Amino acid sequence: MLDRNKKLYIAGHKGLVGSALLRRFEKEGFTNIVVRTSKELNLINQADVEEFFKEEKPEYVLLAAAKVGGILANSTYPADFIYQNLMISTNVIHASYKYGVKKLLNLGSSCIYPRIVPDKMSEECLLTAPLEKTNEAYALAKIAAIKLCYYYNKQYGTNFISLMPTNQYGIGDNFNMETAHLLPMIMRRFHLAKLLANNDFEAIKKDIKRNKLGSGLDNSFDYENKQDIEKILNKLGAYRDHVVLWGDGSVYREMMSSDDLADASFFLMENKDADEIGELVNVTDGTDIQLKELFEIVKKIVGFKGEITYDKTKPNGTPRKLMDAEKIKKLGWKPKIELRQGIADTYNWYCSL
Ligand SMILES: NC(=O)c1ccc[n+]([C@@H]2O[C@H](COP(=O)([O-])OP(=O)(O)OC[C@H]3O[C@@H](n4cnc5c(N)ncnc54)[C@H](OP(=O)(O)O)[C@@H]3O)[C@@H](O)[C@H]2O)c1
Repeated sequence: MLDRNKKLYIAGHKGLVGSALLRRFEKEGFTNIVVRTSKELNLINQADVEEFFKEEKPEYVLLAAAKVGGILANSTYPADFIYQNLMISTNVIHASYKYGVKKLLNLGSSCIYPRIVPDKMSEECLLTAPLEKTNEAYALAKIAAIKLCYYYNKQYGTNFISLMPTNQYGIGDNFNMETAHLLPMIMRRFHLAKLLANNDFEAIKKDIKRNKLGSGLDNSFDYENKQDIEKILNKLGAYRDHVVLWGDGSVYREMMSSDDLADASFFLMENKDADEIGELVNVTDGTDIQLKELFEIVKKIVGFKGEITYDKTKPNGTPRKLMDAEKIKKLGWKPKIELRQGIADTYNWYCSL
């Protein structure tokens, strides 16, 4: 059991996952949580990380800081992805060992698994076949972080655990129409289409001033010109009577609330040590949903009354990419947040911004 009064450092507390960890551990009564933004402490810089650990001497560390991005960013900037993520994990994991951290949680992702696996992605699939090329650089850095934890445990007897979560969504997500993940991207598209259908240009202006649209669109139109605004929203796939989505909606994806991931993180930090968990553990419930169904759920929650049309010239992506949940189930954890509820909570949060 963790001591609520000892110092806990959450790296990446402003991110989707890190902010959920902060909420969860605060709720559990941790009174001594330390956080730093990347501006205050750039984890790429070894000397600064050393200085921070020497000064703060945290008892526990949750490593949720990383350079993350979609396929486009990963394939355009592979050097940045491998360099920054290797540096962040190496610096934090090594300093944690050096300054006596009692327990560390390292976060990876499902992209560490081979591109083709026989069935579901189970922990045993690690390093058994080639990786997906588009995010190989990111995946290699994440695999190195798992191995760092594993070898530090082996050589130095540390208690560093590695969790591989499935796709996350939730409060604090990124809604930039260029860089967002699937769920916030389509949620905002439905939201903007709904506002357009209601002729609520004041709300549209508020939305696009508050959250970047991306793709160089933000400074490309006159915010006071309704026709201009409508053109931009159409370009993004949001129309008065329909919303355009990529592919044909036939593929399946897993979705998990970041609050569930924070719950799993708390459960494993509190109850399970590295020798019980082994090298890594998936955080998933092992079920997925067809995108067509997911889109209908989001549409209903947002309250958009128009149609969904599919742009079938755009790629669908992998048909199915399912993680195996057996190990985490055996360890005694399963997700609690029902998908509709999680999506509704995320939408309410987005509207409250
Ligand atoms: N989102 C998902 O679907 C998902 C799924 C599976 C696994 N994960 C894993 O969860 C972890 C966090 O992902 P996320 O989605 O929460 O990412 P995110 O929302 O982009 O947040 C990343 C965090 O990392 C911090 N950071 C980045 N570079 C840094 C640096 N050089 N120095 C210090 N801090 C730095 C950022 O700090 P600032 O905000 O202060 O710049 C931010 O708080 C990653 O390891 C990712 O692989 C995420």
